[in-house]
Amino acid sequence: MAIPRETVEQILQAAHIEEVVGEFVTLKKRGSNMWGNCPFHNEKTPSFSVNPARNIFKCFGCGKAGDSAKFLMEHEHFSYPEALRYLAKKYNIKIEEKEQTAEEIMQQSIREKMFNVNEFADKYFVDTLWNTDEGKTIGLQYFRERGYFDPIIQKFHLGYSPAEWDAFTKHAKQNGYSDELLEQIGLSIKGQKGLYDRYHGRVMFPIHSLTGRVIGFGGRILTNDKKSPKYQNSPESEIYDKKQTLYGIYFAKNAIARQDECILVEGYFDVLRMHQIGIENVVASSGTSLTMEQIRLVKRYTKNITMLYDGDAAGVHAALRGTDMILSEGMNVRVVVLPPEHDPDTFGKEFSVEYVSNYLKDNAKDFVRFKTELLLKDAQNDPIKRGQVIRDIVETISVIPDSIFRITYVKECSRLLDMSEQTLTNELNKILRAKFKKSLGVEDNVAPETETTTMPKQEETVEDQLPAGYYQERELVKLLLMYGREMIVDEREDENGQKIYEQVSVAQFIVDDLKNDGFIFTNAVNKKIFDIFDHAIDEGPIPKGQYFTSNEDETIAQLAADLLSSPYKLDQWEKFSIFVKSEENNLRATVLSSIYRYKDLIIEDRRKAVEEELKNTEDMDDQLILLKRKKDLDDIRKQINKELGIVIAK
Ligand code: GTP
Ligand code: MN
Repeated sequence: MAIPRETVEQILQAAHIEEVVGEFVTLKKRGSNMWGNCPFHNEKTPSFSVNPARNIFKCFGCGKAGDSAKFLMEHEHFSYPEALRYLAKKYNIKIEEKEQTAEEIMQQSIREKMFNVNEFADKYFVDTLWNTDEGKTIGLQYFRERGYFDPIIQKFHLGYSPAEWDAFTKHAKQNGYSDELLEQIGLSIKGQKGLYDRYHGRVMFPIHSLTGRVIGFGGRILTNDKKSPKYQNSPESEIYDKKQTLYGIYFAKNAIARQDECILVEGYFDVLRMHQIGIENVVASSGTSLTMEQIRLVKRYTKNITMLYDGDAAGVHAALRGTDMILSEGMNVRVVVLPPEHDPDTFGKEFSVEYVSNYLKDNAKDFVRFKTELLLKDAQNDPIKRGQVIRDIVETISVIPDSIFRITYVKECSRLLDMSEQTLTNELNKILRAKFKKSLGVEDNVAPETETTTMPKQEETVEDQLPAGYYQERELVKLLLMYGREMIVDEREDENGQKIYEQVSVAQFIVDDLKNDGFIFTNAVNKKIFDIFDHAIDEGPIPKGQYFTSNEDETIAQLAADLLSSPYKLDQWEKFSIFVKSEENNLRATVLSSIYRYKDLIIEDRRKAVEEELKNTEDMDDQLILLKRKKDLDDIRKQINKELGIVIAK
């Protein structure tokens, strides 16, 4: 469902960057900007600035910059629509969803009702845990006995569901929730004697979505009753899709991104324990085997997964499951196996955070190595089993998309298996060829996109090897962005040599001047911005800075935020610019000198190229042509410098 364009603009205008950022970063006013410690990289002195006038942020340390929506996308890992919805809610702007069908509206309202009843239940379980005798003596007591402190119990909204068979259901119905809804969301179950509580007599774990809404629950039994399962979990519903969910992701996502690593454990309690000892980049797969969707969820934050599993055989087995899937997503998988008697919960309870962190560091093995060693131990010296191990490992290596990594792993396995690299490579190539053929067959003879997926993406702003005039291009782009709509007086001569004066916008002045003389920006992003202005001059209106800082083209938004967030003095490219007057004092002079300076550089560059060509030319005629061209360029440079001199002297 798309958000209408006007609403997007309305939202972005209403959003005050200092308020949006202020919810996550402590800001102090200094000058016209506000400053704080950058949430995107570690630092002790603030280099993260917020510019309320331009409604953008920029970090001078790591270079991240943008508007409110960009900030939320980076910080909260929202998609663009999610960021807009968040802002709309914050600033009470109603989003008229376009073209929703009656069915969609129904669906929407079912989802809302489900979120609603879950939130209600969450409050009820938490309240029961802390404020009723039964909750305190049974539920709270249980958590505390297992060594959990109040802050963690509060943070994760742990709760308690009374032993009475329908306490919650009754309470919910009194508050207007329908039988149908309670059953659909799975909080209640229909029995012979009516609706009763799914979780009665259990301690409760709410399961949060990425954005912190309660989408389901897990409830742990407190007795040793072998007839009931240890955990009761919510059934799937419109808002709870097990394959897409990882327990704890809401509390872990920032730490995962910051540390560029996600630790994967199995149980609710494992997540709690790690958090309690200060390791927060942890999520649980909740006992089920890992899905592709869960892996992709993690991939939004990091490419590095560490699986932390119990030391027993079942734990090791669990670690083996699902890993080919992670590898095939191009992620790096490492495995840490705990001592046999431990799971992450008991391990974290027994040892200090330093010990646990060091254990993780020292015992993390990349997955291929882990699997090789494990299988080898099983195979011992049985040659048939050994052959099977080799095929098994090579099969695993073959799912890794990056060929460089594949080679690295082949090298490592050759060492571990005591086999030549060549033999393993041959085996690997056989599998890869078979896969390739299969893909051809299945894909109806369409060639797979192997080339394009392995090609590194070209960075747009590689700072080394800058073409001539790059900084001058940026200077002009900055003037366009800052003053494109301002009017200046253009002075020129008509056909009778009479001076005429007319008001034009800075944008028109720059664009016309460069186009008339055939100059084209070489940097792709600079050119895109230039073209937008060029178009706007004919079609109107000339866009404001916000149009660029909020542009859907990431490269434009980033450059615009970069250029708009700093005064000239702060920019490294200031040293390339020759004027020192404040640009606002003399806009026309600034624009003109910027244009001349740019042209001068480009011409100088062309002149050098001609000289180079002259050196390599034997033919007399060609030489004459080149000499003439060189003289022309010299003349143009002289003219430019004369004009530049006049502009500066004024
Ligand atoms: P404790 O045994 O109390 O330490 O809980 P735990 O969270 O460590 O659970 P455990 O390691 O036994 O299991 C891992 C995860 O699998 C749990 O957190 C649950 O999500 C899930 N699980 C375990 N037992 C059951 C069960 O009986 N039914 C269901 N549906 N899920 C279970
Ligand atoms: Mn456990």
